[in-house]
Amino acid sequence: HRDDLVFSYKGIPYPTTLCSPEGFKALESFEARSDDVILAGYPKSGTNWLSQILTDLIAISQKKTPGEESSVNAEKVDEFPYLEVGDAEKYERMTKLPSPRFMATHLRPENLPKSIFKNKVKILLLIRNPKDLATSFYHFSNALAALPSYETWDDFFTDFMTKKMCWGCYFEYLSEWNKYADQENIMTITFEEAKENPALAVKNIATFFGIPLTEEEHQLVVQRSSFQAMKKNSEKTHGSFGNIFFRKGGVTDWKNLFSEDQNKKMDKAFEERIAGTKLGKKLKY
Ligand code: PPS
Repeated sequence: HRDDLVFSYKGIPYPTTLCSPEGFKALESFEARSDDVILAGYPKSGTNWLSQILTDLIAISQKKTPGEESSVNAEKVDEFPYLEVGDAEKYERMTKLPSPRFMATHLRPENLPKSIFKNKVKILLLIRNPKDLATSFYHFSNALAALPSYETWDDFFTDFMTKKMCWGCYFEYLSEWNKYADQENIMTITFEEAKENPALAVKNIATFFGIPLTEEEHQLVVQRSSFQAMKKNSEKTHGSFGNIFFRKGGVTDWKNLFSEDQNKKMDKAFEERIAGTKLGKKLKY
């Protein structure tokens, strides 16, 4: 069934129900604003989590109460915050949104509209340990009808290691973004560091985007973005997809899936392809 589920654009597979060649064409001329807030991350790195933090911070910067209908939020399915997801007219509608606009993306930098870099838009780059990420992606692929499903974890692992995934290869994603890792308009954060110290993560993100926070606001954002709080609220925010998007939300679940041999293969790939890079050094591995 794989063939009708995905299409290829510039050599990378995408799910047909979420993206389209027309959409990608329209995206090329998308005009970014210098005060847009962008979250970039490979699928399953914690995009929904950091989206919640960012949309709450934006709401606070606009003197709105986080989570209220009037605030910018990731909850409106008709204006799905993933830049590359939606119809081709979406970008026209986005021109009417007030600043700061929030958008998340799983795209590699070379496939993003040029105006993002030209206008020096601030980007929060989110990265996650490949073992937990692959584990999360496997469960998600089998739970979401839009993605090709896998009969076995072994089949998924093979595809993951050989660039057959939707949104492309994890390793290539990191090496492409690594070229931008030094730019001052890009802040990198790992899933693991945010999990270990969410209060510090929220503080650093707010500082990067220039959003002052009172102690109370800081605590509110941290509390609303905990896995428990987001999972509890997920029916409201994600409808029937809630349980799919908020699965375990932790680290080391990979140990339940990886064989000894797969573990070695991943370690080798990581060592050869990422470990020596700036992003590789940041990843807790
Ligand atoms: S997607 O579909 O690509 O947008 O998925 P994404 O949101 O990037 O990643 C999903 C994983 O993030 C976990 N998650 C969280 N972890 C910690 N804290 C919070 N608040 C949180 N929210 C989501 C989610 O559970 C997925 O990871 P796994 O390992 O599958 O649980």
